Amino acid sequence: MKKGSIVELELSGLAAEGKAFGKLEGKVVFVPFGHPGDVVKVRLLKVKSAYCEGSITEWVQRSADRVDPPCAHFGHCGGCKWQHVSYERQADAKHRQVIDQLERIGGFEIPEPRPILAAASPWAYRNKLDFSFSTGRWLTAEQIQSGVEFPKEGACGFHVPGRFDKVLEIEECHLMNAEVNRIRNLIKTKARDRGWSFYHPYNHVGHLRNLVFRSNRKGEFLIWVIVGPDAQATLGDFLSSISEEISEEHRIVYSINPKKNDALHDLVVEPYRGEPFITETLGKVSYRISPQSFFQTNPDQAERMYQTVLELANLSGEERVYDLYCGTGSIALFLAGKAKFVLGIEYVQEAVNDAFQNAQLNGIEHVHFLAGDMKNLLNENTISEYGMPDVVVVDPPRAGMHEDVVQRLLTMKAKTLIYVSCNPATQARDLALLTPIYHLDVVQPIDMFPHTHHVENIVRLTLRP
Ligand SMILES: C[S@@+](CC[C@H](N)C(=O)[O-])C[C@H]1O[C@@H](n2cnc3c(N)ncnc32)[C@H](O)[C@@H]1O
Repeated sequence: MKKGSIVELELSGLAAEGKAFGKLEGKVVFVPFGHPGDVVKVRLLKVKSAYCEGSITEWVQRSADRVDPPCAHFGHCGGCKWQHVSYERQADAKHRQVIDQLERIGGFEIPEPRPILAAASPWAYRNKLDFSFSTGRWLTAEQIQSGVEFPKEGACGFHVPGRFDKVLEIEECHLMNAEVNRIRNLIKTKARDRGWSFYHPYNHVGHLRNLVFRSNRKGEFLIWVIVGPDAQATLGDFLSSISEEISEEHRIVYSINPKKNDALHDLVVEPYRGEPFITETLGKVSYRISPQSFFQTNPDQAERMYQTVLELANLSGEERVYDLYCGTGSIALFLAGKAKFVLGIEYVQEAVNDAFQNAQLNGIEHVHFLAGDMKNLLNENTISEYGMPDVVVVDPPRAGMHEDVVQRLLTMKAKTLIYVSCNPATQARDLALLTPIYHLDVVQPIDMFPHTHHVENIVRLTLRP
């Protein structure tokens, strides 16, 4: 088994990073786009003492359980890498991944995990998509071999993983309401008709740079058109021509990006048609979503996640709650109706501003938010000012919690600790550190991102007697 050699093996399972695996000479071999039951030829790209990684060069036999990917861009686009796996099997693999990591990394025994909360609609579940325009069109091997000439202006779609300068043209994406495809393709056609160019990633010239869609469950869109300075003179005409063909309930905003990078968070957003935000309601709480604000991208599953946190918090109305890593305060506001007081802490000042604004929008006064690094802000002063919490909810980024934060939680001894995580491996590591005083009580995996390998997990810890 040498790097570069081709081996044949039968795949037997799905692994944590979304790859399939099989065993050869006692070693696990991981490959993308495989399915349990496939017999494949694999070129070995990495050969380590404990495992190998490779890519499939040929299918000797395809598993009868594979499903046909509905998307024409499957295999080329960086998203939705599990379309060839049935949704039931995806959900099952995610469930097993959570339990496996809690057992292997955390050293827990999980006798009765709750069944995973799988998505009721595994397609068109997203409320946000970002498209890029680039002169650097990525051509697939089949497109190159076809000999077809592709439009010279470049591509509008998603960046190819690891390539800031190459964009895969997207005709149809199934992750959001189909109207997104019509509007995106309309904007491309209008640009072509007017001789507008796509952004050149090296020369930094061009009219169209990015296009961001946000939507709510009422079917309203916020369409954000980002252009380069070259577009300034004719932007009004361009926006007018597209707005004529977009339903009036949808709002349009724009930004001119003079920078050499594509970061969007620091751009000035100008309204073109309607208010420069949309509103989403989860449970009884309304959240204002501006072009740059963070909001969970699967609203149906976010609502189920927040409902689960509320159920597990078991509030009577008398409790003081801390929502740590609170983002725009979504969980804090969702719990506020059943709590005496909620304090949210979050690193990003803009998110905290949104949290205050959302509190005001809902007339919720018994919440407060602080901006800063958790390991510095979660200290004795904060606790003495806002009171010792009865319930703590943490929802940290993928890296999990800083050890100082875990230590602080150990001294705070809140009765109930709810840990929401998008990375069960770091969650298991942090939970293991909390076991001296906490008992792992409930494990509730939830699938926020069908067709990807990502899985979210909610755990309740209760203080040991
Ligand atoms: C997974 S998100 C939480 C999302 C939020 N609970 C929601 O449902 O909308 C994690 C949040 O932690 C914040 N964060 C990351 N590192 C932090 C730190 N060191 N201190 C405080 N907040 C941090 C991020 O800015 C982000 O908003």
